Amino acid sequence: MPVLDTPLQIGSARIRNRLYRAPVLEGAGSGPDAAKLYARQFVGNARAGVGLIIQGNSCIYEEGRTSPGMTLVNTRERVLRLGEMVDAVHPEGAAVFLQIGHGGMYAMEAWHHPYAAERKGPLIAPSKPPWFLRPAFLRAPVHAMTTEEVRAMAGRFGDVASWAREAGYDGVQLASGNAKLVHQFLTPFYNRRADEFGGSVERRASLLRAIREAVAERAGDDYACTVKIPVDEKSPPLTPRISFEDGMEMCRLAQEWGYHAVTPVRLSVLPDTTLTKGDIPASLWRNKTMKRRLREAASSRVQWSLLMAGYVVGSVRNPFEPVWNRAVFTEAKRRLSIPVFAVGGIRTTEEVNGILDSGQADMVGIGRPFYAEPDLAARILGGSDEPRRCRNSNFCVPAEMLGMRGTCYNPAVKKTTAAT
Ligand SMILES: Cc1cc2nc3c(=O)[nH]c(=O)nc-3n(C[C@H](O)[C@H](O)[C@H](O)COP(=O)(O)O)c2cc1C
Repeated sequence: MPVLDTPLQIGSARIRNRLYRAPVLEGAGSGPDAAKLYARQFVGNARAGVGLIIQGNSCIYEEGRTSPGMTLVNTRERVLRLGEMVDAVHPEGAAVFLQIGHGGMYAMEAWHHPYAAERKGPLIAPSKPPWFLRPAFLRAPVHAMTTEEVRAMAGRFGDVASWAREAGYDGVQLASGNAKLVHQFLTPFYNRRADEFGGSVERRASLLRAIREAVAERAGDDYACTVKIPVDEKSPPLTPRISFEDGMEMCRLAQEWGYHAVTPVRLSVLPDTTLTKGDIPASLWRNKTMKRRLREAASSRVQWSLLMAGYVVGSVRNPFEPVWNRAVFTEAKRRLSIPVFAVGGIRTTEEVNGILDSGQADMVGIGRPFYAEPDLAARILGGSDEPRRCRNSNFCVPAEMLGMRGTCYNPAVKKTTAAT
């Protein structure tokens, strides 16, 4: 039997096969229809055979979302309401993990005009922004969290995990990449703290230990608790960053501290398109809704231009590259005994089987292509050589940032519909 079809145990979660839907936002928000909006996508994905669905980043505090469509999981009631979606997915055989996090200094309260205007307090971060980023935060004060606040935040991660377990989710993943708050703690680019959460690789990573302990204590030691680890970061010249070896050490520490799986990823310290790679999202210029939403979000011409420049430069510097994290997940797999998740530019059945059969990773994740092809798992699991639909055009990226629904916005891509 191909490895792809074999089950895998991750903490308390049994996953029926090795294909997972990587976390991409659905723009489902936090309204009364959030569970239904998620179910509309996930039930079809599950029916098509995917083993695990990781729901996109959901925010543990009332402030801290990075886009208006991001779901809040800051209360038990909110998380329990999402259980309706999990209950709809489970009969189709897939497991569901909830990804949890916070945007830190890149929360939308920093840049998205209506939310910035209503911000209740300063943005939170491990330290004040590096000096050369400060002009971008002139109108959004940043508060360096106290040690007590960091401990309380770790506790909140534990609470959310326990609510997730109660709601039926099979596990959690920390949103610890993509320049979000946990990532900001891990990287020396942002973290210049002098307390127990700053300094050496181990001390910066010790937020992961505090969160892991809180999750074990409140949701149960066996509850599947997984983490994304930034490895070999890109950072501006002469600035500190997580090197390849630092990232590997963080993977080792995550294993030592009881995480049930890791997803090592190459990232930038900036919230640019390093995490997706691919084309410039031309949708901003062509799609009327996106254009309007961007103008509403970016209050000044300078801010608007900065956002656009970030996209263009990011995309030019990060062209699509098939399986671009291979070097990092393969090395993590070689060094660790816990399951290693692969993600990033994996598209074909051949690539999926190649990674699994040669033991380069234990689970293989696909992200964006699920927008264009919700029944993609059937094609991969069935070994079909039908051409893939996603063109890595990244039209979905600004849409997500501006709070639109998670779907493929490339007019040249013929979409399939989820088999719900
Ligand atoms: C629109 C969009 C939203 C994303 N949201 C998240 C997220 O919430 N959490 C996360 O860890 N990664 C997120 N990602 C990154 C994906 O999980 C994945 O790592 C990335 O897209 C590369 O995989 P792919 O080439 O298969 O799409 C997002 C990517 C896209 C395109």
